[in-house]
Amino acid sequence: MEIQPNFNFTQFDIKLETETIGRNFLYFTELDSTNAFLLDKTNQDQSGTVVFAEKQNAGRGRFQNVWESAKGQNLTFSILLNIDKHIKDKLNILNLGTSQILAATLENLFQVQVEVKWPNDILIKKKKIAGILIQTVSFGAHINKAAIGIGINVNQTQFLGEFNLPPTSLRLELSQTIEREKVLAEFLNNFEELLWKVKNKPNLVMQNWREKCNMIGEKICLNQNGKLKYGVFDDVDETGQLLFRTDKGIEVINYGDVTVVH
Ligand code: BTN
Repeated sequence: MEIQPNFNFTQFDIKLETETIGRNFLYFTELDSTNAFLLDKTNQDQSGTVVFAEKQNAGRGRFQNVWESAKGQNLTFSILLNIDKHIKDKLNILNLGTSQILAATLENLFQVQVEVKWPNDILIKKKKIAGILIQTVSFGAHINKAAIGIGINVNQTQFLGEFNLPPTSLRLELSQTIEREKVLAEFLNNFEELLWKVKNKPNLVMQNWREKCNMIGEKICLNQNGKLKYGVFDDVDETGQLLFRTDKGIEVINYGDVTVVH
């Protein structure tokens, strides 16, 4: 027997205050990956569409990792953006900005301290609460569509498997069951505002991210496909790339995983 979805659309709709983001909302009980769905050119092409799945059978994380999420417990969704001239060179900024507003959304709703780790891990007490994966597709010479994929661990209490960072959920951290609709609507409200800022005030987005990031000035280990390098997290540049300081000078880094070393 098919389990009835426990997502309350009315509650979600009451709390959604956006003009475009999430107004076209596609809900699936199962899908391979919400990102893959949106990037398939035969599917939706309305910018701002949100695709939500209660269970992903091939959920993707960064670096080809699998994103595991128990059915009906969490939030796994993607936002479709048509890439126009105002955003095409700012996807890194959008990436950092998305992690900053996701952290702020959780902090404001639940009075819990949330950290961001470059480029886009969201942590509570050093454990991973959420992740972001932006994927793009081009038809012709330019990037045309982006899927902003978000996974937030909300009510899951057991995580099996091996993880680079230990996972946690809002329920584990707050010892209460969380209303997923409220988290999703509030995040999408903030995301619409962010999108305007990325296009019109990108430096402010970077400034907000810097204020939230507590790695600046710290000694870090940078992992690029298993190759480890040690240095200092000097800053991020105006395009969101990491400025990595070693004895040899400053290197501009656009991918990898970083951890603070003590
Ligand atoms: C990470 O590795 O931290 C990024 C995880 C991103 C997971 C989300 S869940 C919704 C969307 N669909 C996917 O297949 N991945 C992203």
